[in-house]
Amino acid sequence: MTVPFVDLQAQYRAIKPEVDEAIRRVLDASAFILGPEVEEFERAFAAYVGAEFCVGVANGTDAIQLALAACGVGAGDEVIVPANTFFATAEAVSTAGATPVFVDCDPETSNLDAGSVERAVTPRTRAIIPVHLYGRAADLDPVADIAARRGLVVIEDAAQAHGALYKGRRVGTLGRAGCFSFYPGKNLGAYGEGGAVVTNDAEVARRLRLLRDHGSPRKYRHEIVGYNSRLEAIQAAVLGVKLCHLDAWNERRRAHAARYRELLAPLEGAGALRLPAEAPAGGHVYHLFVVESGARDELQKRLSEAGVQTGIHYPVPVHLQPAYAALGHREGDFPEAERQARRVLSLPMYAELADSQLARVAEAIESAVMSRQ
Ligand SMILES: Cc1ncc(COP(=O)(O)O)c(C=O)c1O
Repeated sequence: MTVPFVDLQAQYRAIKPEVDEAIRRVLDASAFILGPEVEEFERAFAAYVGAEFCVGVANGTDAIQLALAACGVGAGDEVIVPANTFFATAEAVSTAGATPVFVDCDPETSNLDAGSVERAVTPRTRAIIPVHLYGRAADLDPVADIAARRGLVVIEDAAQAHGALYKGRRVGTLGRAGCFSFYPGKNLGAYGEGGAVVTNDAEVARRLRLLRDHGSPRKYRHEIVGYNSRLEAIQAAVLGVKLCHLDAWNERRRAHAARYRELLAPLEGAGALRLPAEAPAGGHVYHLFVVESGARDELQKRLSEAGVQTGIHYPVPVHLQPAYAALGHREGDFPEAERQARRVLSLPMYAELADSQLARVAEAIESAVMSRQ
């Protein structure tokens, strides 16, 4: 038995008639860019997360870049981001014209460390981007407190956390704006590229709508210089179908996580593996189930030989990427992010995983660990 890291075909098989019908509807109408399908999805997604506005864009990276621009963040500004995130979080800060300032993460939750945020604030800081990494809601109260005291904007990177709750509210709705990616493998994934920004601020929503569509409120009138970053109707139609399943899928991911915990508890007890810390109810949607091992690369190799696919999120922290060499960082600057980069391993995780597959993954981990002893 092989266990893939994700299985998008299994998901498609489970919802094929609904998806096929939604795509056919778009083909019949032949309205492919923005339009009624996008508006309908924006309404549904705003209602789902509990935000007043949702603006569909071309991808999650643009969502962050455009959210920064819509909040007035740009050239000369500094934006605080975690060092352990997908590259796009920092990249969007740079393409918005601002400079990313990295901070270290919490060893328990892997999310950004509030104490480090406080120390990173300078007179040029304009915004903080907490990332709800792996699907776990970041602890936003201390971040909101710093932002309020220092007059900063909070923009959430919720690209991995569709549906996760922080103190009873869906992530994405707690800062000035919340940014989502609908990359196919995400908990809510399109059949191509897609993204969205949610906000309760009418002016930010208005600017986002201009920015994503050449600064144009209506055909051939351009009020500002913007971008071409529009959500496609086929993606919106697919996302509308999938949104109805999101809570059930997230529930299954949580059940799989609980089962992994049961199966892997003895290995954690023996000190061979570290499991992700438990989260408050609803606080984790397990986009990824990330364990830590001191012999990560060997474990990954053994699992691959046993037919179990895994991932590493992420092998190099963003401050050590060649693209940010000019910022002058070196190894040791963010020790916890660097430690995690050496140790993390993401196990197969998707709603359609069968119990037998979870057992197979655990078995393969156990025999890999035993063979080292
Ligand atoms: C944390 C994080 N931020 C931003 C992005 C960028 O999203 P996209 O790939 O849709 O541009 C992703 C996903 O790839 C992500 O995981």
